[in-house]
Amino acid sequence: MYDRFDRHINYLRISVTDRCNLRCQYCMPETGINLLHHNDILTFDEIADFTREAVRSGVTKVRITGGEPLVRKGIVTLVSMIAEIKGIEDLSMTTNGTMLGIYADDLREAGLHRVNISLDTTDPDKFAAITRTGAIKDVFNGIDAAKKAGLLPVKINCVIRESREENSASAVTRFCKENELEIRYIKQMDLVKGHFWKVDGGDGGDCSICNRLRLTADGRLKPCLFNNIEFNIRELGNKEAIRLAVGMKPECGSFNANGSFYNIGG
Ligand code: 5AD
Ligand code: SF4
Repeated sequence: MYDRFDRHINYLRISVTDRCNLRCQYCMPETGINLLHHNDILTFDEIADFTREAVRSGVTKVRITGGEPLVRKGIVTLVSMIAEIKGIEDLSMTTNGTMLGIYADDLREAGLHRVNISLDTTDPDKFAAITRTGAIKDVFNGIDAAKKAGLLPVKINCVIRESREENSASAVTRFCKENELEIRYIKQMDLVKGHFWKVDGGDGGDCSICNRLRLTADGRLKPCLFNNIEFNIRELGNKEAIRLAVGMKPECGSFNANGSFYNIGG
């Protein structure tokens, strides 16, 4: 599919839950989170049907995100349903890694190709402060499990304040070199204020080459993270929602007054 600006739209990011077992400062408020109701969350069949339609329309890259995708009950089954769809050349997941020790082998077997794992520091105390609840050893364990399971290449998402030279990020850079991990630096964004930057080491944040559509856990198809436009797939049907989202994908992001990373997907 091509949009109005001749960008080739072939990448679908699916948020499968707005829940997370961590509470990263830059992603979720500490309290007062409005979580989706069970009935509003797409079923596995709805997600697979939508993905099939998207692949028929030309999507070849699919990423599963959240919230934290591994807290969605039955996630391995969902991955296998998506992996069965013919035409997906690249099937990946963005995860905080804390539960990969449990799931990595099953995910690989279900047909997941690779994972991106979030890691902003190598210091246990800093990690606990950033995530408000997390234990860094779970992430280290998850990274090992992902490598052993062959979910390769394992990429690390490192959120930075200003630059990749800052202390926490430098430590993550070293850790990645020592452990054969690819790293990308993501400067902290603010959806509401419309602060976004190009991802260093990745394609995100560069509007001129943006090839993405995003499906939220409750079935809203969004052509741009930094825009309020969305199309409800339950109301419009999959095909029409895709047609409208591609047709109205904005040339460039501006701001998003309603969403947060945990409910649209990072
Ligand atoms: N700015 C940039 N990236 C963010 N993420 C979550 N919140 C933000 C934010 N405010 C991204 C991180 C994390 C992924 C799950 O979502 O890259 O690794
Ligand atoms: Fe959870 Fe990821 Fe958001 Fe942290 S950034 S709270 S791990 S969804």
